[in-house]
Amino acid sequence: MTKTCDVALIGQKFMGRAHSNAWSQVGRFFDLPVQPMLHTVAARDAGELLAFAKRWGWTHWTTRWRDIAVDEEVDLVDVATPNHVHADQALAMLEAGKHVACEKPLAGTLDEARTMKNAARKAKRCKTFVWFNYRRCPAIATAYKLIRENRIGRIYHVRAKYLQSWGGADTPLLWRFKKNVAGSGAHGDLNAHIIDLARFLTGDEIVEVHGSVARTFIKERALPDNPRKKGKSTVDDAVLFLASFKNGAVGSFEATRVAHGHLNRNTIEINGEKGSLSFDFEDMNVLQFFDAADGMREGGWRRIMCTSGGNHPYADAWWPDAHVIGYEHGFTNMAADVLRVIGGKKPEVPVPDFADAYETQRVLEASLLAAKNRCAVKLSEVK
Ligand SMILES: NC(=O)c1ccc[n+]([C@@H]2O[C@H](COP(=O)([O-])OP(=O)(O)OC[C@H]3O[C@@H](n4cnc5c(N)ncnc54)[C@H](O)[C@@H]3O)[C@@H](O)[C@H]2O)c1
Repeated sequence: MTKTCDVALIGQKFMGRAHSNAWSQVGRFFDLPVQPMLHTVAARDAGELLAFAKRWGWTHWTTRWRDIAVDEEVDLVDVATPNHVHADQALAMLEAGKHVACEKPLAGTLDEARTMKNAARKAKRCKTFVWFNYRRCPAIATAYKLIRENRIGRIYHVRAKYLQSWGGADTPLLWRFKKNVAGSGAHGDLNAHIIDLARFLTGDEIVEVHGSVARTFIKERALPDNPRKKGKSTVDDAVLFLASFKNGAVGSFEATRVAHGHLNRNTIEINGEKGSLSFDFEDMNVLQFFDAADGMREGGWRRIMCTSGGNHPYADAWWPDAHVIGYEHGFTNMAADVLRVIGGKKPEVPVPDFADAYETQRVLEASLLAAKNRCAVKLSEVK
């Protein structure tokens, strides 16, 4: 009989929907060592929870997330709540002996992230995961494999940017604009993803942030429940920084929520001694590859459609060639890898755990310190 993994989800909005979809689809598309069961969903709004649970197939629902910790049937807890509660929720579940899959960034603050990392280390029977879902786009996973096959050679230069446009002056004071809830703004939200991608693809660590600029352009925003009143935005709207990697490569990182025309432009370029790779999430099925061995006469960017079963990661689970996949498939691919790890199998590409996501959080912290103090910050100074 196939083993099962009873999942509980905390949070039922944007990520709650993306994760519910992933847990409900993954067993239909992937052959897995353990099958997920949609056990319980928890969130604050009792009025919406029942309908949500019914729509997505969760068997139980509760407004008291702590109930999940004492429910012996639950094996894995999926934390899809705002950043300031990740630590409380993850710690309670690890103490109760549950596996935890937490949304990114790992936490609102470095202190909380460190506590989570340490708790995960102590909870030896529990596995931890962080939803850096872009690792699981087939084009990114293909780039990861090409780099491991030495097709790019020594990496010289990483250029990463994550530009969005939804955070203009008309956007109200959502939790994402409150430092005590979110930790930071575009930085923790978007730079977290591209720092993770840069670390994942290169297999290298950032050792110094040379300089950083953080800017809040829109200082006050309308209150969501009383638009005639305004409240203070306490986070950045954009953060840009420069960094060095341990092996000597350099990197630039940009995150903003106020770039018109760039709706979800998560891009990363890796330039090395043998070639270059380029990815743009708005064309997510494609990986651009320039192989310097092709020479100047015939050389050019190859547009690789990463949808070919047997050739591209995750493609076997989905559709025939160029029958493209979308945003939600990254989460389903991640759910597959989480279940593989829980079932003692290898993931398609590595899944970040709390210790891994803590390293990304240190880079976030270093660039905030660099911006605040207008100086370079060595990662060895950020513990
Ligand atoms: N991986 C990604 O690409 C991605 C994308 C968006 C958001 N996120 C992350 O996912 C997390 C959630 O973001 P979202 O966009 O889904 O937010 P959201 O505002 O859409 O939903 C938050 C949910 O958490 C619940 N909640 C809030 N406080 C709670 C508490 N104290 N106890 C229990 N439930 C609580 C709310 O009721 C709601 O259901 C954040 O950490 C965010 O950074 C990740």
